[in-house]
Amino acid sequence: MKLILLGAPGAGKGTQATRLEEIFKIPHISTGDIFRNNLKNKTPLGLKAKAYMDQGLLVPDELTIDLVMDRLAENDCRNGYILDGFPRTQAQAEALDERVEIDAAIDVDVPDKLIVERMAGRRVCPNCGEPYHIKYEPPKKEGICDRCGTALIIREDDKPETVLKRLDVYHEQTAPLIGHYKEAGKLIQVDGTQSVDKVTQDIVEALKK
Ligand code: AP5
Repeated sequence: MKLILLGAPGAGKGTQATRLEEIFKIPHISTGDIFRNNLKNKTPLGLKAKAYMDQGLLVPDELTIDLVMDRLAENDCRNGYILDGFPRTQAQAEALDERVEIDAAIDVDVPDKLIVERMAGRRVCPNCGEPYHIKYEPPKKEGICDRCGTALIIREDDKPETVLKRLDVYHEQTAPLIGHYKEAGKLIQVDGTQSVDKVTQDIVEALKK
């Protein structure tokens, strides 16, 4: 199964992708995590991406599209994948359309006001990328990742002013893709304001149909 997770920054794409990865046994491919790993390893790509990410802007398509296409050619993607954070522009969506036929694009819908609150309480694992929330999804042991035991951090781009910029960019460049996938008959919309488990349940039920 080839899935896309659409939705604003902080809508819960990463949270749901981790669960769907376990349910469907297909890899979770997060472009944000790929850029952050490159940055951690100080690669030229990571250093270029940082300049955009820190400002809440999108990394240019020419740095992003080939990177994802190469990842999709890897062996573990042969039975499908969950794309989290790609495509985010019309050019990225067209590049993907040329290459593969996806099964569904899932829009996790959350209003901006709630997004700002979620980002303020988000903590992430710098090792495996697992997101937590101090109130809604706390780790079992405070400040420590349940999956790999690494100390959690606050993401650089979760500063309130950067979050607002990311939301502007989302509405301008990424939200129009909802129409793109609706026209293609691939769109599934779920209410992302519900509990994490209920959102997962709604996605799985919609996919069964
Ligand atoms: P990326 O890492 O993809 O960030 P994002 O899309 O902005 O999304 P987030 O990871 O911030 O949020 P999420 O929707 O995954 O929410 P989460 O599950 O963590 O991208 C970062 C940057 O990289 C971009 O700004 C850009 O610069 C660059 N980039 C990446 N892809 C690119 C591309 N294709 N093209 C160009 N540039 C690109 O949840 C958020 C919080 O809410 C957590 O604390 C979580 O615990 C909590 N939560 C989740 N679900 C619920 C729920 N149902 N109820 C209560 N709390 C919840």
